[in-house]
Amino acid sequence: MKKNILVTGGAGFIGSHVVRLLVNEHPEYKIVNLDKLTYAGNLSNLNDIAGKPNYTFIKGDICDVTLISSVITTHDISHIIHLAAESHVDRSILNPLEFIQTNVLGTATLLDAAIKAWSGNMEEKLFYHISTDEVFGSLGSMGYFSETTPYNPHSPYSASKASSDHLVRAYHDTFGLPVVLSNCSNNFGSHQFPEKLIPLMIDHIRNNKPLPVYGKGENVRDWLWVEDHAKAISAVLHKGKNGHTYCIGGNNEWKNIDLVKTLCAVLDVKLERRPGTSEKLIAYVTDRPGHDARYAIDASKIQNELGWSPTPDFKWALEKTVDWYLANDAWLTEVTSGEYRKYYEAQYANR
Ligand code: NAD
Ligand code: DAU
Repeated sequence: MKKNILVTGGAGFIGSHVVRLLVNEHPEYKIVNLDKLTYAGNLSNLNDIAGKPNYTFIKGDICDVTLISSVITTHDISHIIHLAAESHVDRSILNPLEFIQTNVLGTATLLDAAIKAWSGNMEEKLFYHISTDEVFGSLGSMGYFSETTPYNPHSPYSASKASSDHLVRAYHDTFGLPVVLSNCSNNFGSHQFPEKLIPLMIDHIRNNKPLPVYGKGENVRDWLWVEDHAKAISAVLHKGKNGHTYCIGGNNEWKNIDLVKTLCAVLDVKLERRPGTSEKLIAYVTDRPGHDARYAIDASKIQNELGWSPTPDFKWALEKTVDWYLANDAWLTEVTSGEYRKYYEAQYANR
């Protein structure tokens, strides 16, 4: 069936992979990408599909109710995939209110515009909210997050995402809005803004800069290749059940320090350095306040019900990612100039 899909945040890291997948795999759909182009949004992420007839870009803010209502009506939007967010935990500690504005009020604005535009006919409509495993809080050394794990967020970022998840479920229960949600673990891959662990480390190793590891580097994350996440999002969009939540993860847990050392070893080879050279750049720095110890996802629901599973070869995906950053020096240089320098100073000075 034909779908007219509004993707919010489609110029960001995950959003650009989702837009590319849907535009290429579904020429019969109309894909409208609405993005404010904050520091994290970059239209050059989508150069390869920008001229396709089934793709439209609109620069705009999800908090602008007049614009959102008009986009839903003008483009006869049937499906919304909502990725737009402030997404970096450290920035949420420096400036929490921006996260409440975009992640809570922005999501509420979209939900409200959707029920008003679709009122009287919710058939064949869907609001798909993209969320994070951070809403569940922190695990000890055992156990996994699943769809039934109670919420227990610790950072302004995760608390704002938890609020948005609750709002989505409230609009479903109260107004009958058809919704699906997914909560995903840490993504990595091409086009990720280099404030996040993996691209930051690649950029610093390449440039012989210190590698800032928070605390003792013992925190654990479950890493998923972004192209696998995009396929999972497509599976939930097409086959997810109304009102349901799906947990998405890579079944791929790494202590931060082990992952950083692996990146050092991969880059030693690619940059033709003597083994062990890049590891000498590791610098332990003051821990992140409220730092969650461990995230790990039980993804059996999406695997069993929707037939999705991640690429099993993490090392292959990591090397492919490293190769992309090495080949796209101009992209890295462009996004790390300007505003990023000020953020980097505020975040890492005196740690
Ligand atoms: P990102 O920061 O790379 O991109 C966010 C995009 O949203 C940018 O293009 C930005 O310009 C846009 N945006 C921000 N505020 C906006 C506003 N007010 N109006 C319109 N557009 C706005 O983020 P990402 O890492 O791609 O994450 C995308 C979504 O996935 C987020 O909702 C995030 O919470 C969720 N998520 C991310 C991860 C991860 O590991 N990166 C994991 C799980 C879930
Ligand atoms: O789990 C999903 C979440 O993953 C998403 O919801 C977020 O949008 C995304 O940013 C990510 O959050 P994290 O805080 O886990 O990712 P980040 O890359 O910032 O950090 C990963 C781990 O590495 C974390 O334990 C903190 C640590 N770290 C991070 C940076 C930037 C360091 O040790 N040094 C660093 O410089």
